[in-house]
Amino acid sequence: MKIIIGGALGRMGKELAGMATDAGEQIVCGVDVAYQGQEIGFPLVNEYALITAGADVLIDFSRADGLPALLTYALAARMPLVLCATGYSEAEQRDITKAAETLPILQSANMSLGISVMRQLAVIAARALGDGYDVEIIEKHHRRKLDSPSGTALMFYDAVRQAKGGTVRPVYGRQGLTQQRTNEEIGLHAVRGGTVAGEHEIGFYGNGEEILLTHRAENRALFAQGALRAARFLAGKPAGRYTMEDVVGEMLS
Ligand SMILES: NC(=O)c1ccc[n+]([C@@H]2O[C@H](COP(=O)([O-])OP(=O)(O)OC[C@H]3O[C@@H](n4cnc5c(N)ncnc54)[C@H](O)[C@@H]3O)[C@@H](O)[C@H]2O)c1
Repeated sequence: MKIIIGGALGRMGKELAGMATDAGEQIVCGVDVAYQGQEIGFPLVNEYALITAGADVLIDFSRADGLPALLTYALAARMPLVLCATGYSEAEQRDITKAAETLPILQSANMSLGISVMRQLAVIAARALGDGYDVEIIEKHHRRKLDSPSGTALMFYDAVRQAKGGTVRPVYGRQGLTQQRTNEEIGLHAVRGGTVAGEHEIGFYGNGEEILLTHRAENRALFAQGALRAARFLAGKPAGRYTMEDVVGEMLS
């Protein structure tokens, strides 16, 4: 597979480049606004418009605000996209959906296959266990993380909420509450400290039993691995908007 990497000089771009090379993939070009002649083993340019190489897919780990230039290039070059940057606004999400009428585009704020499988397990558990089980989500991240709860915890909340029929609401922490928990709430709790790469736990607490789904990220490699898996999935797919759920679904079928 021929790959172009967006954000090639960043932490994830480098992680992905190393992993793709080890896997025998060919990196035909990298794009990074910080490019000033650095040598990293494959050709680099500093804007998407300067890409001349043909490829099967562009995997982007740059920044959400580079989206307009990226989509302009991809639409002109008819380039399938794996979008891994986080923080797209609602307007940017709409632009991605519009471009996906013409191109195959897979976008996910969490490229980990394990997280995607855990989401599906949580949906099964929420449907099967029903209202007799209280759901609480706990996430832990390193002390430098800015947002809380994490986007992934919110994604899990949303999946469980939908599986339960949409009648629940989030309760962030429990500070100041003086009444008993109801069936309509899902607790979300964030822990911040040290160098924790990322941990998510979804607990289903029933009468005399607990079911705990836990995912622990040990390093950034799993995101690069998931992005490569997503790129292979996208090869040859028709235009449309895809997610990591589709990748897992194809693996299961
Ligand atoms: N989806 C996932 O699973 C996942 C996992 C990890 C990180 N991320 C996201 O990936 C992105 C990159 O993360 P990182 O830790 O590698 O950050 P980073 O800051 O180390 O790297 C980003 C790179 O992108 C370059 N860049 C910025 N704007 C650009 C533009 N308009 N065009 C081309 N290059 C541009 C920067 O110069 C930098 O080298 C972030 O949005 C991060 O949140 C997603």
